Amino acid sequence: MLVSAKDMLNKAKAGKYAVGQFNINNLEWTKAVLLTAQENNSPVILGVSEGAGKYMGGYKTIVGMVNGLMEELKITVPVALHLDHGSFEGAHKCIEAGFSSVMFDGSHYPIAENIEKTKSLVETCGKLGLSLEAEVGSIGGEEDGVVGAGECADPDECKAIADLGVTMLAAGIGNIHGKYPANWAGLSFDTLAAVSEKTGDMPLVLHGGTGIPEDMIKKAISLGVAKINVNTECQLSFAEATRKYIESGKDLEGKGFDPRKLLAPGFEAIKATVKEKMELFGSVNQA
Ligand code: G3H
Ligand code: ZN
Repeated sequence: MLVSAKDMLNKAKAGKYAVGQFNINNLEWTKAVLLTAQENNSPVILGVSEGAGKYMGGYKTIVGMVNGLMEELKITVPVALHLDHGSFEGAHKCIEAGFSSVMFDGSHYPIAENIEKTKSLVETCGKLGLSLEAEVGSIGGEEDGVVGAGECADPDECKAIADLGVTMLAAGIGNIHGKYPANWAGLSFDTLAAVSEKTGDMPLVLHGGTGIPEDMIKKAISLGVAKINVNTECQLSFAEATRKYIESGKDLEGKGFDPRKLLAPGFEAIKATVKEKMELFGSVNQA
């Protein structure tokens, strides 16, 4: 059964580790993430962007697929199904479809409007026992059409949003979606420390988890990050493994063109990436 992300994130914050959110794109992605979580006895959050939601045939299709896989694969670790960078309308659609967690990304609104919309969702999610992520500041780069300027969050605005009763808070701290450019200045730990101090026990979320050096990940966790989002890195692993398979000509041998064979190396590559991240984030054996 899908669960809210609340308990797993509060436990992670207290235990000084982070739970990974891995974005899903199709059946193979979802199965790879779920099996890796089970094999490593780790809690996990499946992230779905609005774009990926449309691609997979709609939110109800995703809920059906995830629930079915969890039952058939006997997944017993805590799993939250979470809307990633959702609009206000998208959050409501996911709630209706049966997601156990949503992110409302109101970071592009003036802070008063972000507060007002987040507050309304706190009430809705609270009544239904669902977890809610809010965002202050912005994540640089672009993810599925969501573009951010990359401005660091104002710690007082973070406190105002945290005090509404959200489950987790994403604060822009110089993090970027996609690959980090060679001249990236790194995470702003001063901002993270200030946000952490203002928001107390609130689990903080680090977006743009792809390519952040290990020492920065560990420092971020020590400063209150309890959820780390990874998307691009699984896509890169999948693409590289699939390219190798095609370039080796294996799809031309026997039944090597069968999608169950052609997608297998990419599936294994996603599993390896997810396992590596779970070990780095410290969530292994925390289910
Ligand atoms: O919301 C999802 C993420 O923040 C993932 O970022 O694609 O850079 O790993 P990434
Ligand atoms: Zn993100």
